[in-house]
Amino acid sequence: MKHAAITGIGAYLPERRLTNADLETMVDTSDEWIRTRTGIGERRLAAEGEATSDLAAAAGVAAIADAGLTVDDIDFLVVGTSSPDHVFPSTASLVQAKLGLTCAGVDVMAACTSFVFALHHATVTIEAGRASTVLVIGADALTRHVDFTDRRTCVLFGDGAGAVVLQAADEPGIMGIDLGSDGTGADVLTIPAGGSAMPCTPERVAEGLHHVRMVGSEVFKFAVRAIPETTERALAASGLTSDDVTWLVPHQANQRILDTVADRLGIAHERVVSHIEWVGNTSSASIPLAVHDLYTSGNLRPGDVLALVGFGAGLTWGAAIVRWTKGPVR
Ligand code: UT7
Repeated sequence: MKHAAITGIGAYLPERRLTNADLETMVDTSDEWIRTRTGIGERRLAAEGEATSDLAAAAGVAAIADAGLTVDDIDFLVVGTSSPDHVFPSTASLVQAKLGLTCAGVDVMAACTSFVFALHHATVTIEAGRASTVLVIGADALTRHVDFTDRRTCVLFGDGAGAVVLQAADEPGIMGIDLGSDGTGADVLTIPAGGSAMPCTPERVAEGLHHVRMVGSEVFKFAVRAIPETTERALAASGLTSDDVTWLVPHQANQRILDTVADRLGIAHERVVSHIEWVGNTSSASIPLAVHDLYTSGNLRPGDVLALVGFGAGLTWGAAIVRWTKGPVR
């Protein structure tokens, strides 16, 4: 069996910044509340006319260049997103056309866990010998679905995209992966209207049912339980323990969640990658964006073990243990 390893990484953030001070003029909130309850200082917003596929394509171009490849080398595309450009066609189809890829592409949707699920999809495709070079993108423009009069959600989310190139390798770069879903918790985080269960009507839009609805405290409790559990399972599947983790890269939803799970796993806080202060919760993009930050900071070295851990609506969760095999920033 072949193995899969990361050989390229790229990121894209839209230019427009929305600061906590900006939000203070929009809803009844404060910089102090947002920083102490979430750790967020600012977030990025996709420009007018800039869709998830545009964010994804920009990150994809950067990852392909970083791998030293061209679009012709990519033989499969997986896009993790929960804010697709349209109900259909898939965002992967649009990204494929924007990049000029000739391979097949598919969307994977597991809310904020989408990137980990997408990585799994790409890994097993390579391990099965069905592809040798896969572009995996996590991209979201969730601010398009947020009610900017609802202080409970509008302070949290930001837009962005991160991508990796995964290639067949002799040694495993992607090691153990653990994934999980529990649909009995579907109601705690949802965009109720806009799908087949509840098509958008003027009445439903007036009620705001096309916006993100979240019972934040329930998601918080779920996250601090699920992240350590899924991380431990993925580490066990890799023959490792939390002592072997060089960098814990959790989905960036709340700094208090990151601190709590680090303590529960016995991982020092300085080993936990956090960029939430600058970009907020970028959903499917948050994990590859955080790895990209680490990579460009020069702190990621060949042989380092990363635990990439997602959780989100569904409910869904998942962890992928990665041995970093790539050299320094090109
Ligand atoms: O990507 C995965 C999805 N999301 C998450 O993982 C989020 C997980 N949950 C969280 O991060 C936290 O639950 C939140 C940050 C969303 C909320 O923090 P909390 O400490 O759980 O606050 P809370 O919901 O219990 O609300 C406490 C108070 C409430 O006021 P009252 O009822 O006590 O008077 C809220 O109305 O804080 C109020 N509040 C705010 N105040 C100022 C809620 N949002 C804000 C706000 N500014 N933006």
